[in-house]
Amino acid sequence: MNNTVKTKLKAAIAITLLSGSSAFASDGVKIEHLGINNTLVRVEGDGTFLLMPVQESNDDATVNVLVDGKVDKTLYVKLAKSKVDYFVPFALEQYRGHDVVLNILTSQSRSDIREVKDDVCWSNFSISDTFDVSNREKYRPAFHHTPQYGWMNDPNGMFYKDGVWHLYYQWNPYGSKWQNMTWGHSTSTDLVDWQHQPTAIEPNGLGSVFSGSAVVDHGNTAGFGNDAVVALYTSAGASQVQSLAWSEDGGETFNIYSGNPVITLESEARDPNMFWNEATGEWTLLLAHALEHEMLIFTSPDLKNWTLRSAFGKALGSQDGVWECPDLFELPVDGIDGKKWVLLCNINPGGPFGGSATQYFVGDFDGTTFTPDKASDGTVPTKWLDFGKDHYATVSWSDAPDGRRTAIGWMSNWQYAADVPTMQYRSANTLPREIGLFKGDDGQIYASSVPSSEIDAIRGRLFKKTSGNIGEDYKKYALPKDNDGICEILLDVNARKATSVDIELSNELGEKVVMVYDASARTFSFDRRKSGVTDFSEHFPAVTVAPTFEKNGKISLRIFIDRSSIEIFGNNGHFAMTNLVFPGKPYSMLSLKSNGGNAKIGSLQIYSIDK
Ligand code: FRU
Repeated sequence: MNNTVKTKLKAAIAITLLSGSSAFASDGVKIEHLGINNTLVRVEGDGTFLLMPVQESNDDATVNVLVDGKVDKTLYVKLAKSKVDYFVPFALEQYRGHDVVLNILTSQSRSDIREVKDDVCWSNFSISDTFDVSNREKYRPAFHHTPQYGWMNDPNGMFYKDGVWHLYYQWNPYGSKWQNMTWGHSTSTDLVDWQHQPTAIEPNGLGSVFSGSAVVDHGNTAGFGNDAVVALYTSAGASQVQSLAWSEDGGETFNIYSGNPVITLESEARDPNMFWNEATGEWTLLLAHALEHEMLIFTSPDLKNWTLRSAFGKALGSQDGVWECPDLFELPVDGIDGKKWVLLCNINPGGPFGGSATQYFVGDFDGTTFTPDKASDGTVPTKWLDFGKDHYATVSWSDAPDGRRTAIGWMSNWQYAADVPTMQYRSANTLPREIGLFKGDDGQIYASSVPSSEIDAIRGRLFKKTSGNIGEDYKKYALPKDNDGICEILLDVNARKATSVDIELSNELGEKVVMVYDASARTFSFDRRKSGVTDFSEHFPAVTVAPTFEKNGKISLRIFIDRSSIEIFGNNGHFAMTNLVFPGKPYSMLSLKSNGGNAKIGSLQIYSIDK
C-alpha cells in the first residue's frame, strides 16, 4: 500500500468511528468526541456556570479552555467515568459574548471511542445560573475557616489592613483533592466570621500559584503606589520560581508583574515570606530551600530585586522531610526583658507523630543572618509549635495591629489530607492564634500559642460549672447537644497525689478520645485510635503527646470541639495540640478520673458555642 492510499484509508476509518459522535449533553452543551482520549465540550447556551461532573477516584483530565479558538487556561479535573461524586463550577461570566469550548484530553487508555462515549461525565455537563454552596458535610467545622467547596491546603499571603484580616489559601476550585493551585481569598473583621471573596490569583503562564506572602507597601518602595498590596508567591511550573503580583484595590484583585520571576534558583525553592525590617530599612525574605532542608534569607530595597544574604538550618532541627512555609518575626519574652526572633519552619514529613508539623527555632537575627539559641550541651534544640497531627503550614499575618503576632495553620496532615471523609470541601484552618514567647525551666525560650482574643466572642451559654475531687471512678458530665455538640471546655486540674488524670470524650456509639495528663512524666496525651471513623488512612489512628511545661502538678486546659476538630491549649498556650476526629455522632460525654490517688478539679466549665 502506498502512503496516499494508507492516508485515505485512515481517514475513512476515522470518519466511520466518529460518525454520530456529537451529542447534546444537556441544554446548551454540545459534546463532540474527536478521538479515543480527546473530546470537545462546546458551550452553546447562556449561563453563569458550566457545571463539570467529578469522580474523585478518576485520573485528572486536562481541560484546555478555548476562548474564540485560543487557549485561555488549562485546568485539571477528575471528570466522572462511572459515577458523579459532585459538580464543580467553571465560571462563564467573564466570557460573555465569546465562544467557549473545552478541549479535553483524558488520560485513561481506551481501545475504542465507544468506551469514551459511555463515560457518565458527558451527559452530566450542564449550564446553570447557580452553583449550590450550601453545606452538605456533617464534619464541616462551624467556627473555623473552611473553603466554600473544593480542596484547601496552606493559609498564605495574610495581611491586615484598614480593620480587615485578609486570608488567602492554597485552593483547588475544580475538585476536593490537591490540584490547580490558586490563591483563594477570605476576609474577616473579627477573625471569626469569614467572608468568601473572588479568586485572588489564578495559575498563569509560569505555572500554578503556590504559597507565598503579602505585605502592604506603606513607603511605595516597589512603585505600585502608596499602600499597594504586594504579594510574592511560588510559580510552580516546570520549575519553582518566585513571582510578584500587586493589588491596587486592597487585596481583592492582583496584577501579575511582567518582570516575573523575581527570584530563580537551580533547585526547588518555595513559599517566599517577606517583611519590612525596621532596623535595617529594607525588606527581608525567607525562602524554603525545600530539599536542601534550609531557609534562604534575601533582602531587597524594592520587593523586585532580591539579594541572597545567608542560608539557615543545614543539619539543624528535624531534617526528615522537605522544609516549607517559613516565617520570621521578633517578639518580647514573657517575664524577662528583651526580645527574641522566631523562625518558623514547616516540615513534611518529619513531624513528631508522623507526616507534617511546624518546628521553630528561637534566636537572633541581625538583618542578614539568623543565629539560633543553643541548649546547655551546645546543640540546637528541635521545638514544635503544636503537638497534634493536624497543624501545618502555619504562618502569621503581616501588619497585625497592636504588635500582635497572629498566626493560623492548615488543620490537616499531608499523610491523609486527601482521604478524610468529606467531599464537598477538604480541610479547615486552625483557630487564629497569638504567638508569644516564654522561658522554660531548662532556660530555653519557647513559643506559646493561645486562641486570638476575638474567639472569646463565640463563647455561648455556661452549660456546666463545677469543681471538686475526682478518684478512680469516672465522674461524668454531659456535653451540650446544640449545633452538633460544638463547645468549649475549661478545665483546671491539680493532680495532687495522683500520678495521672484521664479526660475522656465519648458518644453513645462507644467512640472516644482519651486524653491523659501524666503528672509524673509532665506530659499530656491524646489518643484518637477509637475516636470514630479512622480507617481512611493507616496514619490517622494515633496518639500524640505534648510536654506540659508545668512545675507543680497543675494543668489548665482550654479545649475547643468543632465537629471534626479538637484544639487544646494548655497552661496559657505553653503547649498546644490540634487533632482531627471524625465521630459517627458528636461526643456527648466528658468523663474524668484519676489514677494512683485523688486529684482535684479546681474548676470545670463547659460552654456551648454561638455560631
Ligand atoms: C506546603 C506546600 C508548599 C507549597 C504548597 C503547594 O503544604 O507543599 O510548600 O507552596 O503546599 O500547594
